Amino acid sequence: MRPHVLASCAVSLDGFLDDASDERLILSGPADLDRVDGERAGVDAILVGAGTVRADDPRLLVRSAERRDVRVSWRRTPSPLRVVLSGKPLDPAARVLTEPGAETVVLDGSPGEVLDDLAGRGVVRLMIEGGAGVLREFLTAGAVDELQLVVAPVLVGAGPRFTGAPGVRAALVETRSVGDDVLLRHRFGPPDDRHLAEACVLTERCPPSESAFSVGCLVVAADGAVLGSGWSRRDDPLDHAEEGVLRELAGDPRLPGATLYSSLEPCGQRASRPDSCATLIERAGIGRVVYAWREPPEFVARPSGIAALERAGITTTHLPRWEPLARRSARWPSAM
Ligand SMILES: NC(=O)c1ccc[n+]([C@@H]2O[C@H](COP(=O)([O-])OP(=O)(O)OC[C@H]3O[C@@H](n4cnc5c(N)ncnc54)[C@H](OP(=O)(O)O)[C@@H]3O)[C@@H](O)[C@H]2O)c1
Ligand SMILES: [Zn+2]
Repeated sequence: MRPHVLASCAVSLDGFLDDASDERLILSGPADLDRVDGERAGVDAILVGAGTVRADDPRLLVRSAERRDVRVSWRRTPSPLRVVLSGKPLDPAARVLTEPGAETVVLDGSPGEVLDDLAGRGVVRLMIEGGAGVLREFLTAGAVDELQLVVAPVLVGAGPRFTGAPGVRAALVETRSVGDDVLLRHRFGPPDDRHLAEACVLTERCPPSESAFSVGCLVVAADGAVLGSGWSRRDDPLDHAEEGVLRELAGDPRLPGATLYSSLEPCGQRASRPDSCATLIERAGIGRVVYAWREPPEFVARPSGIAALERAGITTTHLPRWEPLARRSARWPSAM
């Protein structure tokens, strides 16, 4: 299964990725650089083009020692795999090749071939950090799932521009001020894939547990509006992801006819609470459930959530494309 691809870049107010000088230009401020460091810490590989290596000589490592420690506690390498796309030999003194802290691979191929190669190396979440050529290539190939575009409050005048394929529409997921910069988060693809991928990424926010999976979920109204999102143990150590969001949305007139997207099949039986999530979903009037991962018989001998939902007349849709993303952070490794 191809990795989930997050493309990340910073642009000036006039749409440039860099200025025309030979000096490295850092467009975003310290708060955004720290945010990007957090995103790096959450992926399996970081990819750039040879042009970025030549122009900026980045190290492509997780800067925060605390974030590296968290990765190690998840039995991951301290920093993600570094991937450089290049058709020509790279300068052997490039920091991405000489700085210790992560492995580096140099690849040459189409976006599809590169993604298949990385999937074979166990990469489930990939972050593309530029530059102009590589962003355009992956956007044009339809190979980007999420775009994090940061607009910095500077005018540059001339330099490489941020460009993509003509006529492609993205769906806005979030806007956020980060210091003096603005983050625009967009997703590409059909609505079911966009919402389910977003739910799967929410698994990363779950407080760890040795006795339960980490699950993310999203509730989306019939008109496409996202009503709410939840993740396991968000408000209470016993909460399932669906429970938190449905509690928050109780009484919302848009729930009947809404769709619930969950990284894991909702539970059909529950020891720690009187009602299973399937019962809560039915009671809320939700008409459809889309999920990525069928629950394995691990914490429950015979998972029965899908059967319970179908008995209640709720339509269920399984999108196995997103199973690796759903599973990536679903289980705290000390419980293995
Ligand atoms: N603002 C930001 O967030 C940001 C982030 C990153 C970079 N940048 C800026 O972007 C600029 C660099 O952009 P760029 O367009 O010149 O370079 P780039 O996109 O980083 O790299 C393009 C090069 O990558 C290689 N490449 C691309 N696709 C490939 C493929 N499928 N297989 C094999 N090799 C492939 C080719 O290198 P070969 O020549 O080796 O074949 C190509 O010339 C710099 O000014 C940098 O500062 C800005
Ligand atoms: Zn549940």
